[in-house]
Amino acid sequence: MSSLEGQASILIIDDDSSLLESYTVLLEDEFQVYTAATGEAGLELLRQEAISIVLLDIRLPGIGGMDVLRQIKAIDENVDVIMITAVKNVRVAVDAIKLGAYDYIVKPFEIDEMLSLLRRMLEHQRLLREVLYLRSEVGRHLEMGDIVGRSPKMRQIYELMSRVADTNATVLISGESGVGKELVARAIHQQSQRRANPFVAVNCAAVSEHLVESELFGHERGAFTGAVEMRRGKFELAHTGTLFLDEIGSLRLDLQAKLLRVLQEREFQRVGGTKTLRVDVRIIAASNQDLRQMVSEHTFRDDLFYRLNVVPLHVPPLRDRRDDIPLLVNHFLTKYNKAFGRDVQGFTPAAIAVLSHYPWPGNVRELENVIERLVAINRRRLLDVDDMPLDLMSAKRDTAETPFLHGTDLRQAKAEFERHFILKMLEQHSWNQTEVAKRLGIHRNTLLGKMDILQIRPAAGSKSPLSKEPLEND
Ligand SMILES: Nc1ncnc2c1ncn2[C@@H]1O[C@H](COP(=O)(O)OP(=O)(O)OP(=O)(O)O)[C@@H](O)[C@H]1O
Ligand SMILES: [Mg+2]
Repeated sequence: MSSLEGQASILIIDDDSSLLESYTVLLEDEFQVYTAATGEAGLELLRQEAISIVLLDIRLPGIGGMDVLRQIKAIDENVDVIMITAVKNVRVAVDAIKLGAYDYIVKPFEIDEMLSLLRRMLEHQRLLREVLYLRSEVGRHLEMGDIVGRSPKMRQIYELMSRVADTNATVLISGESGVGKELVARAIHQQSQRRANPFVAVNCAAVSEHLVESELFGHERGAFTGAVEMRRGKFELAHTGTLFLDEIGSLRLDLQAKLLRVLQEREFQRVGGTKTLRVDVRIIAASNQDLRQMVSEHTFRDDLFYRLNVVPLHVPPLRDRRDDIPLLVNHFLTKYNKAFGRDVQGFTPAAIAVLSHYPWPGNVRELENVIERLVAINRRRLLDVDDMPLDLMSAKRDTAETPFLHGTDLRQAKAEFERHFILKMLEQHSWNQTEVAKRLGIHRNTLLGKMDILQIRPAAGSKSPLSKEPLEND
């Protein structure tokens, strides 16, 4: 038997003293073993010793196993607990998992089975430590402002940004929606000598067409119906700072002409006004439309394009810089753990692989939304492939057989997907649970619990998944 890594310490709480003795004999070569015959004694030991795994009988004299579990988790939630249960209490064991138990094992079990469960658990603990290490590393390397990413493409962008930041050159940022154009604009401002002065953003697409002009240049009182007060425009508000003209491609042609004049002369009048105002602003513009093509189609003025395109800066889509995905995932994990008071510590390598292979049509914004949702709905510390949203999974798998889901929330949709997937596997393998559990990468007992919860039963005539001997060696 290959040895388990390190000398993890394990506490066994069971009132059957002959069982405690045999566990000890079987495990003491590879573990530091502690035993207790009651929950009270076990909790006492847990407070004194550095224990990382507890094997806990559900039926105990005095405080019952479920209460002991709650107290263990209250003392140290990093302790992993395996519940030991009789067949008739499998349902209780499933509840225990909801309370934070790692897994359960049904009596009587074979020692190999127990050892393989313990090995997986140690692997899980090792992964958690690795994820924590990775996250502390990531935290040290935020490269520029709040922008996360160390891919060669992002490094090029940082370099260009730091070269132009201190000039007053106009920058035109291009890139698909959600790639981080506004973040880049803010970071350039932060790096510049204007950093203590205002950064003012105008989204040219969000303001209604007839208000854009007044939004940019302000208006005098009575300039038009509804203009009851004088109002300063964004150009004035950005004086001495940076004006960020977002979605510049959606600016009306006549306003493009006016903007061009203002950029050339650095002076303008408020709508309905006669006074000429001079401002000192640095312009950064952004567009997710292809402005060059708009120029060739005469929907964007070529003279304005050249005036803006002094320093072009293209932010590539996320699918072209996939090495940044794990860093971004960790960044948003930290952000939303804090926001929701959660403690999701990371993703398994398999889950990271799913996140890394998805094409991310909505770029970083979409990734951020996915992580936000995952942190909001999960209470587990380590998220795995089966926690991933369906749309990410279906990008990887053939969706032909995925049932179509209407009007269900994510939790229901996941359960439905899981049920369908497990059922299909069981059918493919003639309901051989050992085989299916192996293929799904979960313990056979976990499979049984899931079949129970998801109400998966074979059609009449096949072998029952909940036969009297759930631990038979089939
Ligand atoms: N490299 C990055 N590091 C950290 N957060 C990022 C990064 N890129 C984008 N984000 C985040 O993703 C979201 C979208 O970014 P941003 O608004 O800058 O995109 P955009 O390119 O301006 O999109 P749109 O064209 O739709 O306006 C923001 O919440 C932003 O903070
Ligand atoms: Mg934007």
